[in-house]
Amino acid sequence: MNGENAASGRGITESIAKDFFEWGVHGITMGNHTWDNKEIFDFIDDEPRMVRPANFPPGTPGLGHTVIKANGKELAIINLQGRTFLPPIDCPFRKSDEIIDQLRKKHKCILVDFHAEATSEKIAMGWHLDGRASIVVGTHTHVQSNDDTILPGGTAYLTDAGMVGPKEGILGMEREAVLRKFKTQLPVRFQVDNGKWQLHGLFVQLDDATGKAKKMEKIRMLEDDWIMD
Ligand SMILES: [Fe+2]
Repeated sequence: MNGENAASGRGITESIAKDFFEWGVHGITMGNHTWDNKEIFDFIDDEPRMVRPANFPPGTPGLGHTVIKANGKELAIINLQGRTFLPPIDCPFRKSDEIIDQLRKKHKCILVDFHAEATSEKIAMGWHLDGRASIVVGTHTHVQSNDDTILPGGTAYLTDAGMVGPKEGILGMEREAVLRKFKTQLPVRFQVDNGKWQLHGLFVQLDDATGKAKKMEKIRMLEDDWIMD
C-alpha cells in the first residue's frame, strides 16, 4: 500500500505503520508527503518493509527499494516519484533502470509504485519498464484511472490506483475548506473528511517463473456496498 497520507493526510507515524503491518499489509510505499510527519525520521531507517521514492537525493533516510516476503513468496518493490508538477528531483527513468538492472539478477517479481501527478509521465514509465517490471502502478492523484492493461511485455499497468479514504470529500479532504481555498485563494487549513469510505486498489496475479502478469483487476469498494459483521 501507499501510506504517505496515512497520518490524517500528512505522512505516516510508526504506530500507524505498525497497525498496517498487523492488519496484513506487507509493504508500504511513500511519496511527496514522506517527510510531512517528523516522526518518520525516528523509524524509517529501521523499517525494511517501507520505501520512499528512490530518486530522492543521495543520502536521504530510508530505502528506495526493498524485497518483501509473504507466504513463501518474494516481491521486490520500488518507489519512484515523478517530476512533472512535483519537485525537480533525480530522473525517475534513469533511477528505475539502475535499480531494476540490479534487482533482476535475483528477482522476477517486481512492483513499481510511480508516485506522480501527470498521466503522461506515468504512461511513459509503464512503457519504459514494460517487460522489466511485473507491475507499474501510479499513486498520488487519489483518483483511480480506468486504463488497467497488461502491456505487450507482460507488465501490468494502471495510471493511478486511487485512494482508500472518504468518498465525499475532495481527494479525501473536507470539501468546504477545499472549495473555500479555490474560491477565495486565502490560506485554509484542510482537514480529512469524516464521511463514508471508498477503497480503491489493484489486484494482479503474477507468474512466479517469469514475473509477468497473468491477470489484473481494479478494486473499487464503497462503504454502502459493504456488509460489516
Ligand atoms: Fe502524493
